[in-house]
Amino acid sequence: MKSPSNAATGTADIDTDADVRFPGALEALRTRRSGHNFDPETDIDDETLEALVEDATLAPSSYNLQPWEFVAVQDDDRLDELVDLAYGQEHIREAGTAVLVVGHDEPKTADRVFDEWVEAGRMDEETAQATKEQAVTMYDDERMGRDYAVRNASLAAQNFLLSAHARGLTATPMIGFDIEGAAEFLELPEDAVPVVLIAVGPNGGDEPERLPRRDVEEVLHRETF
Ligand SMILES: Cc1cc2nc3c(=O)[nH]c(=O)nc-3n(C[C@H](O)[C@H](O)[C@H](O)COP(=O)(O)O)c2cc1C
Repeated sequence: MKSPSNAATGTADIDTDADVRFPGALEALRTRRSGHNFDPETDIDDETLEALVEDATLAPSSYNLQPWEFVAVQDDDRLDELVDLAYGQEHIREAGTAVLVVGHDEPKTADRVFDEWVEAGRMDEETAQATKEQAVTMYDDERMGRDYAVRNASLAAQNFLLSAHARGLTATPMIGFDIEGAAEFLELPEDAVPVVLIAVGPNGGDEPERLPRRDVEEVLHRETF
């Protein structure tokens, strides 16, 4: 077994970040909260929305397929409708921006992305073709296709949340909404799977203490479960 090379591979209770290369990144993930206190008087601007989405798109994805889309709602009347679809979660309106992170359950980026692997010299034509066929086949199974959508888009959503936090914004991920109703309201195409709705906006006050997390000893299994 290799020995841990830095504190990032240690426990969750790291007091010193002396040998951590990106201490700000650790601070961001340790202090991120699902906030409910938004400033109802101000909203994020377009530039910020685009920066959040750009950071989200830096998430890893299977074969770099980037099978995700982001549907932003900022119109007040439409936010009111989203509040209704989210069973009255008023913080969506107060946030001023709601972003539905959507995953593809069809490999619609595959042609382009595998071309990019070849253009970058990372795969030869033959390997790219074979790998693409393998990747595309995985989507044949309906469950696998949905799993792909959810796995990849969830990682993008977490990037979005961390980016919002790093920018001093408040953001909350939500699945407490009428999935089919939201899909219809946002005119999602058939192959788009709603994954998580994020309310994001300027901070409007402190959050209550974070609820306790399960201990590492409880959740970490070594070699087998
Ligand atoms: C998949 C998922 C669904 C969630 N759904 C909602 C929701 O519908 N409404 C809400 O206010 N918070 C929602 N949350 C936020 C959680 O309540 C929150 O992450 C949890 O209490 C831990 O708090 P923290 O994120 O501040 O550490 C959701 C979080 C996740 C990951």
